[in-house]
Amino acid sequence: MLNRSYILLGAALAASLSMAAQAPDTLKEAYRGAFHVGVAINVAQITGKDAIGDALIAQQFDSITPENVMKWEVIHPKVDTYNFDLADKYVAFGEKNHMFIVGHNLCWHSQTPDWVFKDAQGKRVGRDVLLQRLHDHIATVVGRYKGRIQGWDVVNEALAEDGSLRKSKWFEIIGEDYIVKAYQWAHEADPQMQLNYNDYNLQSAAKRKGAMALVKKLQAAGIPIAVVGSQDHVRIDWPSAEDEDATIKDLASLGVKIAITELDVDVLPSVSFASADVSLHAAQDPKLNPYPNGLPAAMQTKLAEQYAMLFRVYLKNRASMSRVTLWGLTDADSWRNDWPVTGRTDDCLLFDRKDQPKPALYAVIDEARKARR
Ligand code: XIL
Repeated sequence: MLNRSYILLGAALAASLSMAAQAPDTLKEAYRGAFHVGVAINVAQITGKDAIGDALIAQQFDSITPENVMKWEVIHPKVDTYNFDLADKYVAFGEKNHMFIVGHNLCWHSQTPDWVFKDAQGKRVGRDVLLQRLHDHIATVVGRYKGRIQGWDVVNEALAEDGSLRKSKWFEIIGEDYIVKAYQWAHEADPQMQLNYNDYNLQSAAKRKGAMALVKKLQAAGIPIAVVGSQDHVRIDWPSAEDEDATIKDLASLGVKIAITELDVDVLPSVSFASADVSLHAAQDPKLNPYPNGLPAAMQTKLAEQYAMLFRVYLKNRASMSRVTLWGLTDADSWRNDWPVTGRTDDCLLFDRKDQPKPALYAVIDEARKARR
């Protein structure tokens, strides 16, 4: 309910501010002309069950990414079964709200059903069968939304932390050319659509080098790769402004645009691995969940400062940036509550568990205002 008052107040304020020709107060208006500001949306939001969330999304964001509903396990659960119900609703939501609609994703090591890699007897398939499956999946899914989805994360997370290619089943069964083929087929299915490569930890020098080599390989193969997505599942004390800036500049030097595709700022104590690999998990421990009743004020301020710093860097590089997408609307929606440790309370986004704006939201909007002056 409180949230409704923010929505109404926000709309009234935006109207009066724009009449007064001052900076507007929603994310998408504040960043208009710099880059899209997007959000990953979940099933409740796609199906209209989260009406308050939907109103906030339409008010604040001009781009969406499907958090899960276009992943292989949802959209293509069995060899002969595609399930487009939620994906169709997702695209319709974006069209209704005139948004830049992202597809996520076509080829990944995670959330891909076992059948993809097995034959009817349960034995591992060979290269030709897997290539055919990858081709058919991409042609069918991209083809269905041709002209309606503006950019696809074609291959997701193909790199290991040392910058070499991840030894996924795609790599093991097909070999490294699965990557070029996936992009070729996605491009054939919708030549106008932006081809994206998406990965995490690109602030680490070794992994970034691997990403740059991968992009160059695609370019050498004649693939018009348009965007590199840096997920930016980051932390309250990492990365530094210098590392973030260098990451964007290095990648942009290849002639691609940069998208921040999955931004959230983890406020919780870290576990022993620094990664966003969803297949990794750590054990529960109360010491790892220090704020079950909400973030203390000092931490809210620190969170706002980290968000402000990141958006300063994005704004500074605005000529190279296409979009910045938050990985979830509210803290209650965030995957961080259950990964890499289940049942934690991670207040890592811009809206709180009651759909209310946090100091971090105002700090982010303020950065855009300052940049206009
Ligand atoms: C996450 C979703 O947010 C969770 O709901 C799901 O259980 C696991 O995947 N990198 C990606 C995203 O590219 O698709 C992942 O999303 C987070 C890490």
